[in-house]
Amino acid sequence: MEIKGYQIRGELKTTNSGFSKWGFADKNGKTYFIKEFIDPVYPVYADVLEPALVERKKRICKEFEDRTALLYREINECSDGNLVYIEEFFREGSHYYLTMEKVAAVSMNLVKRMPREDRIRICKTLIHSIGRMHQRGIVHGDIKLDNIMFRQLPSGKITAKVIDFDNSFWESEPPDPEEEVHGDPVYMAPETFRMMEEEEGALTRAIDVFALGLVFHQIFTGELPGFDHSRYDYPFEAVLGGEELSYSYEIPGEWREMIIRMTEKEEEKRISLVEAEQMWKSPGSRLRSTTGETKGAGSSGESEAGTFFTAAGDL
Ligand SMILES: Nc1ncnc2c1ncn2[C@@H]1O[C@H](COP(=O)(O)OP(=O)(O)O)[C@@H](O)[C@H]1O
Ligand SMILES: [Mg+2]
Repeated sequence: MEIKGYQIRGELKTTNSGFSKWGFADKNGKTYFIKEFIDPVYPVYADVLEPALVERKKRICKEFEDRTALLYREINECSDGNLVYIEEFFREGSHYYLTMEKVAAVSMNLVKRMPREDRIRICKTLIHSIGRMHQRGIVHGDIKLDNIMFRQLPSGKITAKVIDFDNSFWESEPPDPEEEVHGDPVYMAPETFRMMEEEEGALTRAIDVFALGLVFHQIFTGELPGFDHSRYDYPFEAVLGGEELSYSYEIPGEWREMIIRMTEKEEEKRISLVEAEQMWKSPGSRLRSTTGETKGAGSSGESEAGTFFTAAGDL
């Protein structure tokens, strides 16, 4: 099957996904990830429908198309390599598609076996990349381990790349509090649940921080922070129930502290990614690395994490 010059390999499937069909496709000698959006559906076979309904559907599609195209363009602009590049977004027939650079991912098991310093570097990369979206006023909205791809660089080091911007939104235009939120309950921030219950409030970048804190715990230990599973199904429920999550002491001290600050119940108290990044950039910070990881960071004033991206050649 071919879609807009992309030769689809096999069929698009819904594996790991509720809201899309995806697979891989080749174009001009390169392989891409391709995703078909289940929603919205453009009224191509319009003759059988009421004209008013056709118009309404077209208007919904147009709004979706304009907003998504602009959002993806801005996300691409934010990226300095570790937000996976969105190649194209288009409609073909009744469906919308997105194509992306294909990431040859390695499994989380490999990440778990990496030395601690490597996992620290992965966490810094994620703070930096998602922080760039935040500085642009964009919330990812679906941070979770499944939406982070781990890629092995030619040097053998592993880097983390962020995918799946389908739930992303501008903080200035948050989802309507009465709308259903499509995030994963495992990573849901307490305020997201509160908003759904009360049908008021606005989600902010702090929801990404909460979710990323949980992801970091998984990167360091393979597990989410602990809570009473006989009483609660998800971390946010435990937090809202007044329980403290329990954070593993396997995690290096400063990063354990960082994760605690990232998963604060009240969003106002939660650390921001900009503050988090400042912590290892400022002289004397305990998060400042003493290993060779930042080698090459000259006096150019470039951020250490930024230097890493360039040095790794992973742009
Ligand atoms: N750029 C990519 N390269 C390789 N695999 C990808 C890429 N983007 C997504 N995937 C794989 O496809 C799955 C579904 O994609 P995702 O964008 O997360 O869609 P969904 O919104 O359905 O979760 C991901 O969990 C991942 O396994
Ligand atoms: Mg996903």
